[in-house]
Amino acid sequence: MAELVAVAASSHAPLIVRDWPKLPERHKQRLTAAFHSLGARMAAARPDVIVVVSPDHWINFFIDNLPSICIGVGEAHEGPPEPFLKDFPWRPVPGHAALANHIYATALAQEFEPSVSHRMTLDHGFCIPLWRMELNKLPRIVPFVVNTLEPPMPRVSRCLAWGKLLRAAIASYPGNERVAVLATGGLSHSIGEPTMGAIDERFDRDCIAAFRAGAEGPLVAFLEAGMQGAGNGSHECRNWIVAHGAAGSQGFDLVDYVAVPEVYVGCGFATWNVGEAAGK
Ligand SMILES: [Fe+2]
Repeated sequence: MAELVAVAASSHAPLIVRDWPKLPERHKQRLTAAFHSLGARMAAARPDVIVVVSPDHWINFFIDNLPSICIGVGEAHEGPPEPFLKDFPWRPVPGHAALANHIYATALAQEFEPSVSHRMTLDHGFCIPLWRMELNKLPRIVPFVVNTLEPPMPRVSRCLAWGKLLRAAIASYPGNERVAVLATGGLSHSIGEPTMGAIDERFDRDCIAAFRAGAEGPLVAFLEAGMQGAGNGSHECRNWIVAHGAAGSQGFDLVDYVAVPEVYVGCGFATWNVGEAAGK
């Protein structure tokens, strides 16, 4: 059976790449160290495939067709279309159709109804963390898109349930693959609304504390209430709670948190102890 070997989360602010030369040196150092730390942990886990939990930023979907959950079931995916990601090194991005289909089938059997996409383009939400972790070789990628952009979004409790389903699907996959889960997005940020650029450090620190504590009930309650006032981008914390469920709802290890006004985002990075890292 497949094995869950790593679970991690990372912010994915586009300006981390687009405006990199303009960022203050102290922020560059912190962000670089955080991405490298995630990359080192990911490399040590030696995943064959990474399930990347991210929103789609209006690349594959729009308000005329906006799935709550969509799994990329292709053998390959298109690389990022954003001009500032033109140097992203892995094109096309290798997929893992068999695992993606198994996740989809496991979901249906448990009365979850995801959409699937045979042709998906992976935007900065997927590609910035994968790129900045500086892995020598990109594992196969199963895209797991959660609508965290536009109502109606899945409830936080449902995202947690999706994470548990993902954990069960990986555990029951009839292959020897080593599988990682990487959630991207968050923490607080505000894009294209009157509070554009605001970072809610209080929300971010309380959010990190709730994830660290790990208890499902308080975490779900905190996010369901707190994301309402922490900017529209904070809804991407739904991806983090998918990872939380996939990791068995244990408290995470914070790699770093740094509020970076220049990229409009409270940037968070975390890992959960699973697989060999947990001594299992
Ligand atoms: Fe985003």
